[in-house]
Amino acid sequence: MKKKWLSLLVMFVLLAGVLAACGTSESSSNGSGEGESKKKLIMGTSADYPPFEFIDTAKGDEIIGVDPDIAHAVAKKLGYEVEIRDMDFGGLIQALQSGQVDFVLSAMSATEDRKKNVDFSEIYYTSKHMIVTKKGSDIASIDDLEGKTVGTQLGSIQETKAKDLAKEMDMKVENRNRIPELIQEIKAGRLDAAIIEDTVAQGFFEKDEELDGFTIEDADGGYAIALPKNSELTEEFNEALKEMIDNGEVDEIIKKWFSKE
Ligand code: ARG
Repeated sequence: MKKKWLSLLVMFVLLAGVLAACGTSESSSNGSGEGESKKKLIMGTSADYPPFEFIDTAKGDEIIGVDPDIAHAVAKKLGYEVEIRDMDFGGLIQALQSGQVDFVLSAMSATEDRKKNVDFSEIYYTSKHMIVTKKGSDIASIDDLEGKTVGTQLGSIQETKAKDLAKEMDMKVENRNRIPELIQEIKAGRLDAAIIEDTVAQGFFEKDEELDGFTIEDADGGYAIALPKNSELTEEFNEALKEMIDNGEVDEIIKKWFSKE
């Protein structure tokens, strides 16, 4: 009986020794600067935008979609690792400028205005503005927005569009940080309508019968990767993305996520 305890104790000590050895060898190999440890880049995105970037809570807390796929593919080509950080769309350019993130992939349109503050890659997708309402609403054209309250995502080109409209007619513009908030507010009747991009709006229509909408016009500037002004990354990022656009990889990614919607 005593022998048994003794051998158990010996085994325990041995096992502890092995585990400790594993631990140190791992940490020392991590710590050394040599080897192929990839440089990590931080990507900023507003993960409220299926199928471009979103979290499928049924599957986990990972940010997935067209843009993460493009980011991982570009990074792989260039030998980087990517960490994705979720933040409000309205704070992305600021995060880029302050160095909090290395690049932004967030269905962000490459507008002339933004080009004053950031670099953009090639365009990989083009969108349209859509007016989203509750089904049965009396809004069927832009003119019907007269006297209404219209929501947009803070910092988006839809906000700019709404503000432009409000100069020509009596229309109130309200901002929200996240797209689902706009949808909720429409359903609750606190907003009469929202301006949202067609592809994203379409996804909400498919899941929610209470919603309706119509396309108004092309949005201003297609989607592109944003990088800090004069970043060293811009050229290599752009080249890798261009290659993916030319050889159909980007289309493949878009097709994959659009069919999942
Ligand atoms: N394309 C529009 C813009 O650049 C809206 C993008 C919103 N993106 C998002 N992930 N919520 O302003």
